Amino acid sequence: MRIGLLTGGGDCPGLNAAIRAVVKQALGEYGHQVIGFRNGWKGVVDGDVIQLDRSNIRNILPQGGTMLGTARFHPHSAGAMEQVMATFEAERIDAVICIGGDGTLNAASKVADEGINVIAIPKTIDNDVWGTDLSIGYHTAVNIATEAIDRIHTTAESHNRVMVVEVMGRHAGWISVAAGIAGGAEIVLAPEEPFDIDRIVKFLRHRHRAHANFSIVVVAEGASPAKGSAMDYEVQLGQFGEIIAGAVGERVAHEISERTGFDTRLTVLGHVQRGGTPTPTDRILGSRFGVAAVDAVTAGKTNVMTALQNEEIVLVPLADIAGKVKPVPDDLLRVARVLA
Ligand code: F6P
Repeated sequence: MRIGLLTGGGDCPGLNAAIRAVVKQALGEYGHQVIGFRNGWKGVVDGDVIQLDRSNIRNILPQGGTMLGTARFHPHSAGAMEQVMATFEAERIDAVICIGGDGTLNAASKVADEGINVIAIPKTIDNDVWGTDLSIGYHTAVNIATEAIDRIHTTAESHNRVMVVEVMGRHAGWISVAAGIAGGAEIVLAPEEPFDIDRIVKFLRHRHRAHANFSIVVVAEGASPAKGSAMDYEVQLGQFGEIIAGAVGERVAHEISERTGFDTRLTVLGHVQRGGTPTPTDRILGSRFGVAAVDAVTAGKTNVMTALQNEEIVLVPLADIAGKVKPVPDDLLRVARVLA
């Protein structure tokens, strides 16, 4: 078989582990060929290909990013879709493995509707892909954010400051909740629970009067105030639905400073969370997904996504996940609330 392979959307640590596993399993176990497309769906439209063999994947396992490159590009227009089909035909592609988050998987679903055999692998540091317990990149991002919060703790305490830390998480607050719990934040704000700035201010005043003179507030970039509450703010989106980094963090820090008079600073972790070396968990997850995707292609399975469910790798129909977001469950949100 000739298997196409691409990584789309935002990069994250662990993508190279998945690429490596696809190539090793496809070439070594089955004698397939793997055709990489550079820069996600854009590379398919442009016919920008690279034949992958063992030499391409040497030493990529511990590296962050993606050796194939990626882009925020969706072939939604009729012209782009025609180009996609033309490239697949010219390259004699039997099936394509797409590693991506919501946007890439959505595009994968549309390509599948055109009759192409598609297998998806979920990746996003936001961990919000429906149907899988974990997506590639999340574990590393939580490690990075937790370490940052630990570092911010010491300077918060030295300066008697309120430190607002903005982390990624557009539609779901997985990073904010996990890193907030692990880093011992006083307040965690996630998209799942619109917040009330008055309650935050009341809590901070009480804490600084009674217990401590510093606080850490972790804010997911997609967090927003409850309708009708004292702070008026709408989440601001860019061209591809991405959030303008720092916007909500800036507002929350400003409101806290104005309303409490406490010395307040903002740290926006931004793309630091997507960079660097993947954790062993992300390397193992990427490797498991890569092997499972090639096994699925070979067995003739199509229009499915590899997923981790209760420690096992399973296949989930792409149609079941389209348009859905996996929110942080209530019990985890509760732990963040109780410990804050
Ligand atoms: O990959 C998801 C994500 O990390 C979001 O949390 C964030 O809003 C977005 O990517 C940023 O995207 P870009 O790299 O295009 O700025």
